Parts: sequence; structure tokens; C-alpha cells
Amino acid sequence: LSKKRIDYKAPTHLVPNIHLTFELDPNETRVKNVMQIRRVDNSVDFLVLDGEGLQLTDIMIDSVPLTLDVDFWKDEHGLRIQCNKDEFTLTISNTISPINNTSLEGLYFSNGAYCTQCEAEGFRKISYFFDRPDILSIYTVCIRTNDTSLSYLLSNGNLISDNVNDTNMRECIWRDPFPKPCYLFALVAGHFDKLEDKFVTMSGRTIELLLFVDEGRKGQGQHALDSLKKAMRWDEETYGLEYDLDIYMIVAVDFFNMGAMENKGLNVFNSKFVLADSNTATDEDYFNIESIIAHEYFHNWTGNRVTCRDWFQLSLKEGLTVFRDQQFSADMFSPLITRIGQVKVMREHQFAEDASPMSHPIRPDEVMEMNNFYTVTVYDKGAEVIRMLHTLLGKRGFRQGMDLYFKRHDGQAVTCDDFVQAMQDANDIDLAHFKLWYSQSGTPEISIELSNDEDNMCRIGFRQFTQATADQAHKQALYVPIKVQCLNADGKAIKTGLANDTFVLTDSADSILILGDANKITPVFLQDFSAPVKIHFDYSGKQLLNIILNANNHYSKWEATQQLFFTWIKSVYLNECKLNAKVKEELTTLAGSLPELTLPDEVLAQLMTLPSLESCIAKLEQVNPLQLNKAYIKVRAYLASISVNYMLKHYHNINGKNDLPYAYQRQQVNGRKLKNVLLFNIACSGNELASALIKQQFEDASNMTDKLGALKAAQVYNIDLFDALMLSFEEQYTNDAVVMDKWFALHASIEKPDLLSQLDLLQAHKQFSITNPNKVRSLIGSFAFYNTVAFHQADGSGYKYLADYLLQLDKVNPQVASRLITPLIQYSQLENSFQEKIIVQLQRLYGAKGLSKDLFEKISKCLISK
Ligand code: ARG
Ligand code: ZN
Repeated sequence: LSKKRIDYKAPTHLVPNIHLTFELDPNETRVKNVMQIRRVDNSVDFLVLDGEGLQLTDIMIDSVPLTLDVDFWKDEHGLRIQCNKDEFTLTISNTISPINNTSLEGLYFSNGAYCTQCEAEGFRKISYFFDRPDILSIYTVCIRTNDTSLSYLLSNGNLISDNVNDTNMRECIWRDPFPKPCYLFALVAGHFDKLEDKFVTMSGRTIELLLFVDEGRKGQGQHALDSLKKAMRWDEETYGLEYDLDIYMIVAVDFFNMGAMENKGLNVFNSKFVLADSNTATDEDYFNIESIIAHEYFHNWTGNRVTCRDWFQLSLKEGLTVFRDQQFSADMFSPLITRIGQVKVMREHQFAEDASPMSHPIRPDEVMEMNNFYTVTVYDKGAEVIRMLHTLLGKRGFRQGMDLYFKRHDGQAVTCDDFVQAMQDANDIDLAHFKLWYSQSGTPEISIELSNDEDNMCRIGFRQFTQATADQAHKQALYVPIKVQCLNADGKAIKTGLANDTFVLTDSADSILILGDANKITPVFLQDFSAPVKIHFDYSGKQLLNIILNANNHYSKWEATQQLFFTWIKSVYLNECKLNAKVKEELTTLAGSLPELTLPDEVLAQLMTLPSLESCIAKLEQVNPLQLNKAYIKVRAYLASISVNYMLKHYHNINGKNDLPYAYQRQQVNGRKLKNVLLFNIACSGNELASALIKQQFEDASNMTDKLGALKAAQVYNIDLFDALMLSFEEQYTNDAVVMDKWFALHASIEKPDLLSQLDLLQAHKQFSITNPNKVRSLIGSFAFYNTVAFHQADGSGYKYLADYLLQLDKVNPQVASRLITPLIQYSQLENSFQEKIIVQLQRLYGAKGLSKDLFEKISKCLISK
């Protein structure tokens, strides 16, 4: 049932050219596929093509029709064709039904437009082909229709012709001169509004930029277009990489399974990551749009020009491209905020994945459904591994490695090993040990102890240990770069003598010596999250406060506050949710010192934000999430109440001077961020002034960030106020699908036990549809991922609710169902009584008829491990 990485076999045939003709029809689209095929292994006299859900109508080799069960055989996975030729033309015609394709994979028709999604293995739902990334072909695509409402007929590459043919059909022909795997093929046909722009590359070529959006949404496309131009410039300046085609197109659609897709010259985007104006998008949306536009653009080199040999190598393009988009965001916006955001993804999601039955290395060894491996491990841990290489080689060395990688592999389909080899050869360094990061799963845990040695020296001892994961029993010591800083008791930095302040732990245990007294030093470990690991070090509250007050690195201050918050939450949780004297005292010290810290807005906002409940759960074992949530709220409310005067003053201060017209500009963004963090905390304090402030901010808001900030504050402050504001919000935005997603998400995250019945009502809302992934994720996803009280209800009804929903959703869209099941498979930190109730639901799902491969793979892994 599953495929293994080690079973890779080179292709028996190549397809240098492919010519596709589409006659579009929602119910029955005709596809004619003419492949020029070359045999590379002449010991084989047959070929096997992938194809799923296709109606075969015609098949010929060199114009000679083939006979079923004589010349070729057919099953639900595709065709086996007898053929002994070295060079031939294979012509296959089939039909498909885009309107009935609710999986949103392959060619589908939604909202009046045709759209494709082929990565990873969706091309086989369009036509018979070698659906694997190491078959690179030059595509010529002809799109025909007699539906005059489809004003744009788009595919990859350059437009060759746009005519009306003899049968009165409009016909557009596209040709992409760059050989590509079929997962990068795209077709879009619909009626859109178009934004146009130009970009002049570093060598002086003019590129036409086109952005297609739903009718009437032109005003919301400028930020995406600006982001694209920034990304194009940045890649030239940073990596010397220039765009290659003469035209770059982006289409925004409302029905899309993920964020976006890097199809050659024709990106398809979830409209959520394109459409923005000050009234509809938050600062965070602006940030995400900029980063995802860049991500897809960067794929043109890391992914398209150099692609993956097989899907086990997915991190080759994704880890690297995520790393590149993070570098870009750091340069465009803020290194600190970008880094904090990424570290949260790792701690809240990736660590949880590694602790779950779905644990896998960044280069997986075994896969049943490839769509299940577009994971935070492959993407985000993959990016952390690239980041470590960057740290190790330095900016210049890394660039040299990239240059060599492109020099060697442009136009090829390669492996993660090829990438590391290029880095190694360009820098004359041995990366053999480092490479273990590609094959070993799990989160290394580093335990650190300080002790006094002779001659006034302090010994810092490091030990690393990686727990067995569901997929791998035995773990080895990894290459772990740990950035270290040491402060003395007054917060002055002590020299560590380490090159780049980094200690590289390569064995299971090692130690270093630094000058000083172990009882007086405050060490800071893993600065900037220098490796994707967990650190165990027994900090005192005093030490953490020392870091917060005195460390010169803002990241370290943030990290120390997170640690401190966690320590408090944990101690209150273990103390039957009661605040004890010691915690109160430490909270008071922190609250008292905040006003004295003169920090930039962006830093202060981060320091005043608690770690998420998810990240706290990930650090504990046998957790009762309901109790933990209570403790969490207790700590949050106490801290807010003792600093409420300071926060009110600060809030008014910022609010008073923020009357510039909205711009997505760093200083403004940071001001709004801090203001909204303050408002949220004021609401958490329960202070009676909050109500008026929330209402005022909601009504006065000139932008979505402030509006949403008011709603989030109302959500924790007073349900009646919240409901009233939500009603007005709904009236105002009822016609904007992207904004309504926020509305659904807010409703689904109110922490109240009778939420389930409200979810039923929301599902019946006229804007909700189970066929739209954004809606499903907003409503059901927000409930299951983030609503602790409703999801983890002690009687298991929250789990049952999700399972019931998944049974329905799996029939409509298995890919989305398989993402949504995550909260039910990441149970390893929960108390047994919760785990048991989850398992009951997983067993129910397992027994369901016609379960998708997607869900089957995940659920069976859970049940095997139990
Ligand atoms: N390659 C796309 C990106 O990272 C995402 C494709 C996700 N595909 C999937 N089957 N989940 O930008
Ligand atoms: Zn990507």
C-alpha cells in the first residue's frame, strides 16, 4: 500500500515533448494527450502510465489504434501498454468531469472558473501520463471552449495564439519552453479582472506581470503585485537569480486546498493570500501575502528549474524555499518578528507532529498518500536544517553552495543528497554527520548543567537525547549548533570564547569551560533558535528576569519571558489552578519592570504575549487540557490586572498619535500590534474600562487590524459585547468571502461549552459550504485546533463532533479532511482519559466505509501505535 524511498527506479521512458488539447465543458471536458516518447531502457517492452478516474476514449501508437486487453491493459491506477519501439508518439484521449471534482485536485470547476492543481499526483486525474517529477517535458497546451463567458484561457509559458477555429470555438495555444514535470502543469479558464505591471530584470529584460482576481476585486490586488516585484528584485540581489520567461501570471481563486502553487509561469493562489486592502486585511495578512507571493516566486529556481527526483525529496524544494522566503521576510519586514513567528510554528506544530504517530524525517522513507507529507516537518523543520547549513557555512559559503547547485543541476530532477553535496564541494567541508538531519526524525532534547570546575572556571555540560519516534526506534547523536551567551549577575555579557558564540554539540555528551562561577552565571542557550531542538535547563525566576532586563538580544528577552510564563502556568496548573505566593511575587516583579524597559514597540508587544496553550501542552505530559487552560487564564488575568494602569496609559498614548492613513509599513504595523496587545490584556484584566475602549476602537477603526483587535478583546471580555459587534461585522462584510472567513473563525473560537450547537447553526449559514476549504478550515479548523474548552470537553463530545464532520468531509475532499484530523492524532501529551476518548473516535472513523487513503494512512498509524 505504501511506497518506499529506497525503491526508487529510474524511468524506463522519457517524454521530451507533450501536446495537450482541452475542450472545456463542466460536465465532460475532453483531453487529448500527444506524447513524444523515447525509450531509455531497451530491456523493457511495455510502459506503465498513471491515470485515475479517467474515461478513456482513444489510444494510438504512431497513429495505429490499440486494442484493449491485447495491446494494452487498464485498471483503476492506469494503463499498461505493450510497445517495443525506441521512439514513438503515443496519443491518448479521455474525458473528465470538472464540475463533479470536489477534491480540488486535477482539473476542477468552481465559482464559474476552471482551475487545476497537480502537485503532488493530480496530473493523473487529468490525463494518462508518467505522473512522477523526474519526467521533464516541453508542454504545448491548446485550450478550446465555446463558452464566451470565459474571457481568459491560461496555461504555462508564452501565449502562441488566440483564435477562433473553424468550429467556432475560441482556441488559445500556450507553449512553455522549459522542460518541466507534470506537477507544474496548470490550466485556468475563467472570467477575471486583470491587474498588469512590468518588471525589468537585472539583465534588462522586461517581464509582463499579470494578476487575475475575481470580478470587482481589482482594488485588492496591488499589495500582491508589489510583493511580487520585491521578491523578483530580492532574488536577483541575494542569489543572482533572474526570472526566465517573458510573462509571470498569478490567479487568485476562492476554492483551493492550500495556500498557493508555483506552476511554471502561472501560479495559482488561494485568494486569502492575494486579496488585501486596509478594510479587509490585517497587518498579518499583508505579511503573509508578501511571504507567500515570494515563496511561490522563489520556487521558480528552487523547485522548477531544479526539481525533485521523487516525492521523498520534497524538502529539497520546500525546506529550501521556506528558508528563502524567511530570509526575504526578515529583510522586508523584521528579522525578529519573522524569527519569532517561525519558532512558534516549530514549537507549536512541528514538535507536536514529531511526537505523534505521523512523525517522519524531513526526507520521509515511506509514504502512502503523498498529500499527507506536505507537513511542518518537511517544510519548516526542513527550513531549519537549511538554516543550520547557512549558519555553518556563513552567508558567503552558503551562496557559493547555491551557485554550484544551480551550475550542476539546472534543468534536472535531483535529490537532497545532491544539494548537500553541492554545499559540501563548494565549501570543502565534510557534511557527512550533518546529513543525519535528513534521515532521522524526532526532536533532539538537550539537557544542560552548570558546575564549578577548578581555577574559577564554570563547566557547561551538554547531553543530547532523541526519544524513539513512531517511525524509528533508534536515534543517533546529531550535529547541533547551540548559540550560547553568558551574563553575569548584573547582566553584563561574559566572553565565552566560542567562535560565533556557537557551541557545536556532535556527541551524545560534551562540555565547555568558561570563566566564572556557576552559581552566578545566567546562561542563554539556543539564541535565535539556532537548531530545531528542545533545551532542558533549570532556570531560576531570577535568572530569567536577569535575561529579560539585561540581555542585549531581543530574541533572548522574548525567549526568557516565554520561559517564565510557562513556568508560572505550569506551577499554577500543578497547584490545582491556584496562584501561590512565589508566582505572584515573580509576576509582580515582571509587571513592575516592564514600564522601565525602553524597548521598541515590536519587542514590547512580543514580551507581553503569553506562549500559546498549544506550546505549553507540547512541553508537558499527561496533560488535562481543560485544567491547563484554567491555569493559563489565571496567570494571564493576574498579570494583566496588576499592570492594567500602565497598559491603559500606554494604550491611550499610542491610540492618540496613530492617525496616519493606513499603510503596511513597519512602524505603523508595530504601533498597531502593541496597541492591540495592550487592549487584549486590558480585556483580560477584567477592568470595567475595557468595554468602552473595545467599542470605541471597533467603531473608530480605519483598518481591519484594529477591528479584529477589538473583536478578539471582546471575545475574552464579554460575550454579549462580542456578539453585538460580530453582528455589525457580518452586516458590513457579508459579501467578502475572505473577510467572512475571519468571522467564522472568531465564532468557532469562543470558549464556551455549548459551542457545538452553535457550530451547527454556523454550518447552516448561507456563506458556509463544506466544498470550500477556507470555510471548513475557518469554522471546523478553528474549533478543533484552537478551542480548548469546546474541543476537549470531558465527555468526548468535541472529539465526536470532529469525527462526525470528517466522515462527511472525507467524501467531499479527502485532502482537507486529512489536515483537519490533526488535533485527533496529536494526543501524545494528553492525559489518558482524553486519549481514550479520542481513540474511540479514531476507531469509529477507521471502521467507516470507503475511507480515503489520506485518512487511512494517518488513522492506521495511530491505531497501530496503541
Ligand atoms: N508546492 C506548493 C507550495 O509549497 C504547495 C503544494 C501543496 N500540495 C499538496 N498536495 N498539499 O507552495
Ligand atoms: Zn513551496
